[in-house]
Amino acid sequence: ALAYFNGSFIQSDEPAVPIDERGHQFGDGVYEVIRIYKGRPFMLDEHLDRLFKSAEAIRLEIGHDGESLKRVIGELTQKSGLSDLDLYVQATRGIAPRNHLFPACPASVSMTAKPFREIPAEARATGVSVMLHPDERWLNCWIKSLNLLPNILAKQAASERGCLEAILVRDGVVTEGTSSNVYLVKDGAIRTAPLSNQILAGITRIAVQRIAHELRIPFVEQSFTPEELRQADEAFITSTTMEVMPVVRFEDGSLIRDGKPGPVARALYERFRTITG
Ligand code: PDD
Repeated sequence: ALAYFNGSFIQSDEPAVPIDERGHQFGDGVYEVIRIYKGRPFMLDEHLDRLFKSAEAIRLEIGHDGESLKRVIGELTQKSGLSDLDLYVQATRGIAPRNHLFPACPASVSMTAKPFREIPAEARATGVSVMLHPDERWLNCWIKSLNLLPNILAKQAASERGCLEAILVRDGVVTEGTSSNVYLVKDGAIRTAPLSNQILAGITRIAVQRIAHELRIPFVEQSFTPEELRQADEAFITSTTMEVMPVVRFEDGSLIRDGKPGPVARALYERFRTITG
């Protein structure tokens, strides 16, 4: 796949990143995953805003403004020859001999442009299984940091139990998924955890909130327990790559209601498709 690293367009499997790179050695950086539909980036301003917020939170000066990142993204998209793609953008504290303290060097910026990571159509039609897992992450989950070890371990554990996602639980309530936001539907209202330092402010979450408003479906930002999730009428997760994905089953085989995707998730997804398509 086509990639970008500090001013050069390269192939993503070409050696390009020096060993003494802060992302490589420390995970000292932040990232975004942006979806481009038919050549048009979806909610790009929101993604770039979040990237700059994440960078500021870790005291990282990216060395590009929004316009400059947009230019690189546009160029990479064009050169990739793809019209539907997942664009990965990463900024790290640069290339310097390994030392925990901040180096005096420019940030590294890298990107990749890859074809959509398609979710099997069957998963979307039937809904997916999830596993509940303790949320073992730090307390700055609103920062889209490169440090994803707890997320990786939880998602791998879920996958080994036949589940697409691990739903994280902290202090008795659901925070979010390892790479998604989590929602339930009860008595016609959508519920999801409020924005806080414990979750990532998902861009797809913003889109879903807007769609819910349009469709006059109440959108309540209030945490819920795993038990409330089990007793919900419907559940779904959202992310840039999964869009709106119905959740119907837990790792122990228990079902949410009748174990079929519900009408609210379907309506949100259909509307989402008309916006992105
Ligand atoms: N992950 N929560 C977490 C922890 C995430 O990593 C993500 C996205 C989301 C959903 O955010 P958005 O709707 O902006 O994609 C929520 C990306 C897709 C990833 O790491 O691949």
